Amino acid sequence: MTKIEAIIRPNKLDDVKAALDEIGVKGMTVTHVMGAGKQRGRTQYYRGQEYVVNLVAKVKIETVVSDDLAQTALTTIMDAASTGEIGDGKIFLSKVDSAVRIRTREEGDDALA
Ligand SMILES: Nc1ncnc2c1ncn2[C@@H]1O[C@H](COP(=O)(O)OP(=O)(O)OP(=O)(O)O)[C@@H](O)[C@H]1O
Ligand SMILES: [Mg+2]
Repeated sequence: MTKIEAIIRPNKLDDVKAALDEIGVKGMTVTHVMGAGKQRGRTQYYRGQEYVVNLVAKVKIETVVSDDLAQTALTTIMDAASTGEIGDGKIFLSKVDSAVRIRTREEGDDALA
């Protein structure tokens, strides 16, 4: 299983959700976050204290999918979230060792489907 963590523009959430729905991705967690990338994450010092300024509102979508679906899901998110401008977002992929559906005790890919 692969966890896809996509940090995108908030106004792209609906498009990305619809696109993921079309390829059969069902489970996801969505969080409103603040973040900084290459341009905005400046560190400032004020009275000896360090501050990170200019955090921008973003949306984080986390979805865990079967490895078979990971590449398609990645491309789908990129296509739906892209404007071509700076700040389009970033996607992190990582391996997931296990997943369990609490109700049925199903594990692994069965817990995702
Ligand atoms: N290295 C990182 N680690 C964790 N989160 C990150 C990282 N880089 C970016 N993010 C998150 O992704 C969001 C969007 O980043 P952003 O698209 O601005 O990336 P970028 O590298 O600056 O690319 P661009 O040049 O296209 O703006 C950030 O607000 C932050 O929440
Ligand atoms: Mg940026």
